[in-house]
Amino acid sequence: MSARVNARISRPIAVIGGTGPAGTGLALRWIRAGETVIIGSRDAERAAQSAEAIRKRAGAEARVSGMENAAACEASDLLVLTVPFESQAALLKQLKPAIRLDSIMIDATVPLAASVGGRASRTLGVWQGSAAQQTAELVPKGVSVVAAFQNVSADVLNGDGDVDCDVIVCSDDPNATQIAMELAAKIAGVRAIDGGKLENARIVEQITALLIGLNIRHRGHGGIRITGLPEGAYNPRPVP
Ligand SMILES: NC(=O)c1ccc[n+]([C@@H]2O[C@H](COP(=O)([O-])OP(=O)(O)OC[C@H]3O[C@@H](n4cnc5c(N)ncnc54)[C@H](OP(=O)(O)O)[C@@H]3O)[C@@H](O)[C@H]2O)c1
Repeated sequence: MSARVNARISRPIAVIGGTGPAGTGLALRWIRAGETVIIGSRDAERAAQSAEAIRKRAGAEARVSGMENAAACEASDLLVLTVPFESQAALLKQLKPAIRLDSIMIDATVPLAASVGGRASRTLGVWQGSAAQQTAELVPKGVSVVAAFQNVSADVLNGDGDVDCDVIVCSDDPNATQIAMELAAKIAGVRAIDGGKLENARIVEQITALLIGLNIRHRGHGGIRITGLPEGAYNPRPVP
C-alpha cells in the first residue's frame, strides 16, 4: 500500500462553483481530512447554505464557510474549479481581477457535450487542447494551473465509502502538481499519480466521457486504476 499524506495543507481550499455535486463531494472529503474549505458560488447565500449542509454531514468541528466566487478567490491562493464547461471561460474572465497572482488553480472541468445539450458520454473539441489548457489561457500570468479529479465520480465522493479511483494530476509546475497530489491523497481510497504536463489533461478529460458511457451502460460508478507502476509513483512524497 502506498503512503498517504497526512500533513495539513497550510491554507484554505477555495472551491469555485463548489455548490454542485463535484465541488461539494471534494469539499466534504477534504473537510473530513481536517482541511479548511471555502465553498464558492455566484450567490453568497447559496454558498453559505451549501457550507452549512456540508457541516451537518462532516460535524460541528468542520472548518467550512461559503462566499461569493470572487471573495473566495481573494481569500485563498489554492483554488479548485468545479463548474460546467460552458460557463468556465466566462466565469474565469469575470474572476480574473480577484485571482491572486501566485495562486494554484486545480481544474476538474470536463468539456462534456452534455454541457451544451449533447450526449454526456461525448466531449467537445477545445481549441486550446483541453478544458484545463483553456483555463491556463484565461487566468492571470503567474497562476499555476493543474488538471485533476476529472475521473472521480461526484456520487462516490458524496458517499461515505472509500473512493475506488486513481487521480491523474497534470501540470507544467512541479510544485503545483505536488500540492494537488497531496490533496488527492487525502481522499480515502484515492491514489495520486503525476500524469506529466498540462497538455496530458486532454487525455484524462476524455477518459471521463468513457467512464460516463460505461456507467450508463453498466449502471455503476466506475473509476480508473493505473496498475504496474513502482510503489513510489503512487502518492509520492515531496522531495525534502
Ligand atoms: N459530477 C461529477 O461526477 C464530476 C466528476 C468529475 C468532474 N466533474 C466536472 O466538474 C465540473 C462540475 O461538475 P458538477 O456536476 O458539480 O456541475 P454542476 O452541478 O452543473 O455545476 C457546479 C456549479 O457550477 C456553478 N455554475 C453553474 N452554471 C454556472 C454559470 N453559468 N456560471 C458560473 N457558475 C455556474 C453552480 O454554482 P452556483 O450556482 O452556486 O454558482 C453549480 O452548482 C464539471 O466541469 C464536470 O464536468 C464532474
